[in-house]
Amino acid sequence: MVAKNRSVLILAAGKGTRMKSNLPKPLHAVCGFPILAHILKAAQALNPGAIGIVIGHGAQQVKQTVLDNKAAWGITAPVEFFEQTELAGSGSAVKAALPFLQKQESVLVLAGDTPLLKAQTLEEMYQAFENAKAGALVLAVKVPNPAGYGRIVRGENNDFKAIVEDADADAQTKKIDEINSGMYVFDSRALQQALAKLTPQGPKHEYYLTDTLSFIKQAGRPAVVFTSTDYQQALGVNSRVQLAEAAQIMRARINQYHMDNGVTLINPQDTYIDAGVEIGADTVIASGCYLLGSTQIGNNCTLESSVYITNSTIANDVTLKLGTYIEESEVAENCQLGPYAHLRPKSVLKKGAKVGNFSEIKKAVIGEGSKVNHLSYIGDTQMGAGVNVGAGTITCNYDGKNKHTTVIGDHVFVGSNVNFVAPVTVHEYAKIGAGSTITHEVAARGLAVARSRQVVLENKGVKKND
Ligand code: UD1
Ligand code: CA
Repeated sequence: MVAKNRSVLILAAGKGTRMKSNLPKPLHAVCGFPILAHILKAAQALNPGAIGIVIGHGAQQVKQTVLDNKAAWGITAPVEFFEQTELAGSGSAVKAALPFLQKQESVLVLAGDTPLLKAQTLEEMYQAFENAKAGALVLAVKVPNPAGYGRIVRGENNDFKAIVEDADADAQTKKIDEINSGMYVFDSRALQQALAKLTPQGPKHEYYLTDTLSFIKQAGRPAVVFTSTDYQQALGVNSRVQLAEAAQIMRARINQYHMDNGVTLINPQDTYIDAGVEIGADTVIASGCYLLGSTQIGNNCTLESSVYITNSTIANDVTLKLGTYIEESEVAENCQLGPYAHLRPKSVLKKGAKVGNFSEIKKAVIGEGSKVNHLSYIGDTQMGAGVNVGAGTITCNYDGKNKHTTVIGDHVFVGSNVNFVAPVTVHEYAKIGAGSTITHEVAARGLAVARSRQVVLENKGVKKND
């Protein structure tokens, strides 16, 4: 159900100076998704009638990234963009979205740099705001190190008095460890009236959104402090150090989720699973593994150390030995890979296939039960079932201009050190002698040997005194 009277505004125009980056701050990745994607997903969970995003620094890039990915991120609410031309603080950012505010009854305002926020908290904030019939509500948390954040200053009744920015705080205020998370819910009319009263503040002459809460209170509407003990979700990413901190916290959450679902992580501190990854129960994952993008892993799989998988699907009962590297590929049940196997994009391993030590597969189908066990390169290949590929076999798929296909039928036996010069087809039950360079079609059940005959010259071997 869409909550028509709820809306979300995300402030993502800031320069992110402390990141020292060409990439706009909202697009920096945390566990596989841009910071902004995490925020949008949490916002979407409220089922708002509309989402507004204020863009400025890197505006086009931020907008395009959202437009290109919002369906994949599950964002179904209509998204509108507002460009802030002069980056004069969070208050001026909200002002840039006045046409948005004018259409809304209430609005949840989020910063574009808090990837750890939780949908549950946003829901509780909105409910508390609605129950209190407040003019404004701010999410506050107590943090071990409040430096850099705006402090919540409370009045005599412990109610909200003001938010004082770090740059403007005196020594006494700096001691306050209750900080402004940068997440608020506002009555839209009250916010618009307060925005009109903002004046530039602080060393950078910025319009502080935080001042609107005091104005709303002065106008006689309740300004409520909503507290949460889960302070990590307020972590703002302003620097690379905070980016790493956010990633570490999110990683721990993701790993905990998988362990709760029956996945064994041998060393969770050294296991890197992106936010979109799915893993079945009784899968065991050793240390140093990276499971990235939209990867899905079945039940009962074993991943030895240093397995690296991006955007791939691994079925049940698969063993991935040490150092296996899989990109955009599909692996069916009961397959075995590695140690040190490499599946490049668009590779498909059918049931029970094996790709072993130092073998590389690219855009190839390895049929059911087929084996490529040692030191081979198989590219642009259609391989049937029950094929045995000997050590050191190479498909010569590239003629310097174009790629060509090798077709290997069911139950073909390929001896060691064979070259297939593509395009070439070997039909079922054929046998290829070791060391052959195959340039022509091989008929079903035929034996092809394509190498020069052995010559032995008598007494030309090692001399007695050599
Ligand atoms: C802000 C709050 C601070 C709070 C902290 C929480 C203000 C004045 N201060 O400080 O009280 O503790 O967040 O993380 O709001 N932005 C724009 N346009 C601008 C400036 C900023 O869109 O001109 C956006 C930024 O992209 C960012 C958000 O507003 O997503 C907050 O700005 P930032 O500069 O990070 O504010 P902080 O100094 O962290
Ligand atoms: Ca910030």
